[in-house]
Amino acid sequence: MTELKAIKISDSVYWVGAIDWNVRNFHGYNTSRGTTYNAFLIIDEKITLIDVVKKGFFDEMKQRIASVIEPEKIDYFISNHSEPDHTGTLQQAIKEFKPEKVFASKMGVKAINAHYDLGFDITKVDDGERLNIGKKNISFMETRMLHWPDSMFSYLEEEKVLFSQDAFGMHLASSERFGGELSWDILKRQAESYYANIITLYSPHVLRLLKKIEESGMQIDVIAPDHGPVWKGDDKFKRLLTLYQKWSSRDVDNKVVIIYDTMWKATETMARYIEDGVRSAGVKVEVMCLSNTARSDVADEMLNAAGIIVGSSTLNNNMLPSVADNLTYIKGLKFNTPYAAAFGSFGWSGEAVKQISKILEETESELIGTVSVQYTPKDETKQLCFELGTKMAEKIKSKEEKQ
Ligand code: FEO
Repeated sequence: MTELKAIKISDSVYWVGAIDWNVRNFHGYNTSRGTTYNAFLIIDEKITLIDVVKKGFFDEMKQRIASVIEPEKIDYFISNHSEPDHTGTLQQAIKEFKPEKVFASKMGVKAINAHYDLGFDITKVDDGERLNIGKKNISFMETRMLHWPDSMFSYLEEEKVLFSQDAFGMHLASSERFGGELSWDILKRQAESYYANIITLYSPHVLRLLKKIEESGMQIDVIAPDHGPVWKGDDKFKRLLTLYQKWSSRDVDNKVVIIYDTMWKATETMARYIEDGVRSAGVKVEVMCLSNTARSDVADEMLNAAGIIVGSSTLNNNMLPSVADNLTYIKGLKFNTPYAAAFGSFGWSGEAVKQISKILEETESELIGTVSVQYTPKDETKQLCFELGTKMAEKIKSKEEKQ
């Protein structure tokens, strides 16, 4: 039988995951380049499988394992993270491969049992605990809230391989398995988007984790995340770590994001004058119309923005649904955006700008101003929009000067 092949990533570790070239919606995140669900096989006296793949990809993982050993020879499973993209085939894998033991963190045991009726007792491992698998040892490090409460890292000590589940990953389907084989532009773009959409909310945990790794003195030769390429033997991972430091520290650039939706182009016209005001005052600005922009693309731009300006027409006494959708998403991710403003056109009631302002204030941004207009913006409103843009830019520049 011809199988899909495993790929060796260190002396005794193989990548045995699956490539999802076609996924475009990952719980609301627009995965324009697909993703991978990585699983790793460690060959030792106790053959060990780290994580499994999403439902629908079991056969691909099984074939890759079978290209190295008979899957029934696997002794141990380790589940680093319970989200279904990494446990969706756990039940099937237990049934078919019949492992002796399955290990997970304390919270992982609870989460997996809440997801599935496995009919199999999972063994809890604690933070810092070690597991001997023959000639080698695996140690565990809890990484709560990166990405879920159950998350943990596994570290193959003798080969210095860190299995980091969601951390340091990205949604990128590619035939290349190593970061060193891909251009930095692609890696940076996808890592940034992944951080913005998956990890931003947990930035304080990232900061603590980076410190914990540094303090542990852990030597790392290979980073094996559950999505995207494996990091090995090049300086790109160091560059990624530098970015993780920046993103988790919530540093922002001199940049404004304007998002809006519009019924008859009045709100869109306002957006253009606000944009011109920001640009004229020397601050970078991105403009995104929400009727044709994915919310995850907005999140990408928000990651390092110092200001957000949100516009909407009023429809049926409310902001437009696309604006409400994006504000909910942005608010949930808890970006650090020091300044905010709102604008919009209305016919008679004009609730949208007030509703947007309220949500922006709840995000803890300072609301620096609003502009509303009935029906179509004329010269006076255009001037107010331009001034709102310059005011935002001046606020951002003066904050930077103070730092
Ligand atoms: Fe890739 Fe949090 O799952």
